[in-house]
Amino acid sequence: MSRPITKVYGTLLLGDDPLSVTRAGNIIKNGGLVAFPTETVYGLGAAATDSEAVKRIFTAKGRPPDNPLIVHISSREQLNQIAKTVPDTANILIDKFWPGPLSLVLHRSEAVPAIVSAGLSTVAVRMPNHRVALDLIAASGVPIAAPSANRSGRPSPTTYNHVLEDLAGRIDAVIRSTICPIGVESTVLDLTGLKPVMLRPGGLTREELEETLGCRLEISGLKYSGSAPHSPGMKYRHYSPRAPLILVTGPINRRRRLIKMIFNYYRRKGLRVGYLDPGTPEDLMTETGSEQLARNLYSNLRRMDALEMDLILAEETEPAGLGLAVMNRIRKAAVRVLKIK
Ligand code: TXA
Ligand code: MG
Repeated sequence: MSRPITKVYGTLLLGDDPLSVTRAGNIIKNGGLVAFPTETVYGLGAAATDSEAVKRIFTAKGRPPDNPLIVHISSREQLNQIAKTVPDTANILIDKFWPGPLSLVLHRSEAVPAIVSAGLSTVAVRMPNHRVALDLIAASGVPIAAPSANRSGRPSPTTYNHVLEDLAGRIDAVIRSTICPIGVESTVLDLTGLKPVMLRPGGLTREELEETLGCRLEISGLKYSGSAPHSPGMKYRHYSPRAPLILVTGPINRRRRLIKMIFNYYRRKGLRVGYLDPGTPEDLMTETGSEQLARNLYSNLRRMDALEMDLILAEETEPAGLGLAVMNRIRKAAVRVLKIK
């Protein structure tokens, strides 16, 4: 009789039932690393109050030490432990959007070791909208510091298999759960300045935030804003499949014609060329179109690796709704952007 596989290269595979989540919570409490599902992507968690454990996150991922982590909490009380002060704007946004894909950058309290924030005086914090993540934080009894559970530079994981592809043998455990429903990371909003600034577009749309804040949002570090990056993580190459990805931008008919030309040219040379299909223009006009695009983005990028593509072609899509986050990720994954007028 075959026994169920419970370990891959020393990494424990756990279920997402309450008993297994409690076991995962104990691993975190004792300084271990556990990958867990959230509504955005899989996170790689350690006790945020334990600087040795947090250090192991950087090692496991190969993450540059100047890229700060997000602290995940399961209750409002934990927020007061993490942040020095909670401004009114934060309270308004928290009431409306937590638990959910919104990370707030606030002033860091002394209870959070500097390594979590890569030495910054601020800290990013969010309450994930996922039963397993919330139960895990509660079971561990501490706030959990967690970046996305991928090797640094790779596409983020939206399934436990993606986590194992990158981190098997490098982390203590992974919780096996269903696919992360949103598929792109949380929106990061800095509330430590005079005005809120969006540092990373993500699962909570710009439109929803602007409606609640009642003003246009400044967006930092994006191609669209033209300003220098404020979020340290924005300066590195990110989300990249192994094959070079080329992004084509410009009017739809012309960019599709160019994509077809490049596609056929390299195919004739015997190369394997992948096309990241954003769907029809009509699909992309609808909310569900951009939601599907976001949900499948990282698994499609990883599938390009599995299919051993030599080159990947992607095209510009509408930067509205979740499309803003999708375009931001594709731009960062790209080795070249071909702009046609
Ligand atoms: O949805 C998410 O946010 C996922 C899940 C696991 O919660 N986490 C995630 O973490 O995407 P990570 O480490 O892959 O991305 C964190 C981003 C980086 O761009 C980082 O630079 C920024 O948040 N960040 C974290 N703390 C910051 C701070 N104090 N100031 C400015 N940016 C910060
Ligand atoms: Mg990440």
